[in-house]
Amino acid sequence: MNLPVKLCLAPMAGVTDRAFRELAMEYGATMCTTEMISIKGLYYNDKKTADLLENGEREHPIAIQLFGHEPEIFRETVPKALSFGGDYIDINCGCPAKKIISNSDGSALMKTPELIGEIVKAVTDSCNVPVGVKMRLGWDENSINAVQCAKVAENSGASYITVHGRTTKQNYSGQCNYGEIAKVVKSVNIPVIANGDIKSPCDAQRVIEQTGCAGIMVGRATLGNLHLIKEIADFLEKGLGIPKQSNNEKLLLAKRHIGLIVKYKGEQNGIKEARKHALWYVKGMPNNVKYKDMLVRCKTYNEMCEIFNELNKICEDV
Ligand SMILES: Cc1cc2nc3c(=O)[nH]c(=O)nc-3n(C[C@H](O)[C@H](O)[C@H](O)COP(=O)(O)O)c2cc1C
Repeated sequence: MNLPVKLCLAPMAGVTDRAFRELAMEYGATMCTTEMISIKGLYYNDKKTADLLENGEREHPIAIQLFGHEPEIFRETVPKALSFGGDYIDINCGCPAKKIISNSDGSALMKTPELIGEIVKAVTDSCNVPVGVKMRLGWDENSINAVQCAKVAENSGASYITVHGRTTKQNYSGQCNYGEIAKVVKSVNIPVIANGDIKSPCDAQRVIEQTGCAGIMVGRATLGNLHLIKEIADFLEKGLGIPKQSNNEKLLLAKRHIGLIVKYKGEQNGIKEARKHALWYVKGMPNNVKYKDMLVRCKTYNEMCEIFNELNKICEDV
C-alpha cells in the first residue's frame, strides 16, 4: 500500500486489544498502538498490566503506550515493556480521565512541559526504538500549549508527536481544532499525526489538507466498523470511494473479531469483553433491539454466533 500519510489506529483502553489491532492492520492501518499501560503496574510486575503488552506478528509496526509521570520509573520499565515486542514507545500525555489526571498522569503532564521533556529523555535513553508523545491541545482553551509541549518533546529526543485536537477540559465534547494541530505541524521538524473526529475518507482528506500532517489517527469511528480503515486507505491511495460493508459482511466480520477475542482471552473473559463489540457491530441493523438484549447475555461464542446468524437472515430479507 502506498499511502501519502501514515494511517494509525488510535489506542483505546478496553477496546484496541490484540484482536482489534490485528484486524485493523489487516484492513490497511499502517501502524497501531497498544491500550495505555501503567508504568507502575509494570514496575510492580502486575499480571494484568503485562497481559496488555502481549502482541503478535500481525500487529506490527506497533507502539507500546505507557502512562505515568516519574521519569525514573519510565527509565526502568521501558526495557521490560519492549521485551514483549514493540517497534515504538508512545508516551500518554493526552488521557483526560479523572482517575488518570488525578494521579498527575495522562494529559495532566501538559501542565508541566519540562516534565514531559524529562520523561522523553529518560525513555529515549533507555531504549533504541523511536519514541512518540500523544497529547491534546492543552488543559483548557486558555492554556493551549501543544506547540510548546511538542517542541520540548522534540528537543528531548521524541521522534513523532500525535495531537488530538481538543483540550483536556473538552474531554470528547465540542469541535476538534485542526488549526491548532497545523500550528504544531509547522513548529516541529518531526512527523505529526493528527487525531480527532475522523469518521470518513473525506474527513481524513480534509484533516490532511488542513493540518499538513504526516499521519492521521482514527479511533471511535472504527468501533463496530473496522472496514472504515480500508475505506480511508483506498481513498487516500487511489482516490476511490469503495462501498461500505453490507450488514451481512459486518456480521461475518463480527464473528471473526469475536472469535479472535476468545482465542486470545479465553471464552469466559473473552465473551464478556466481546459483548460491547457485538453491540457496536449490530448498531443500526433492522429489528436489532431484541438481538441486542440477547447479545449482552451471551455466555459462549457459539451462542453469540447463533444470534448473528438469525440477524443475518433478517438482513438478507431487508
Ligand atoms: C474508549 C476510549 C479509550 C481510549 N483510550 C486511550 C488510551 O489508552 N490512550 C490514548 O492515548 N488515548 C486513548 N483514547 C483517545 C483516543 O486515542 C483518541 O485520541 C480519541 O478518541 C480521539 O480520536 P477519535 O475522534 O478518532 O476517536 C481513548 C478513547 C476512547 C473513546
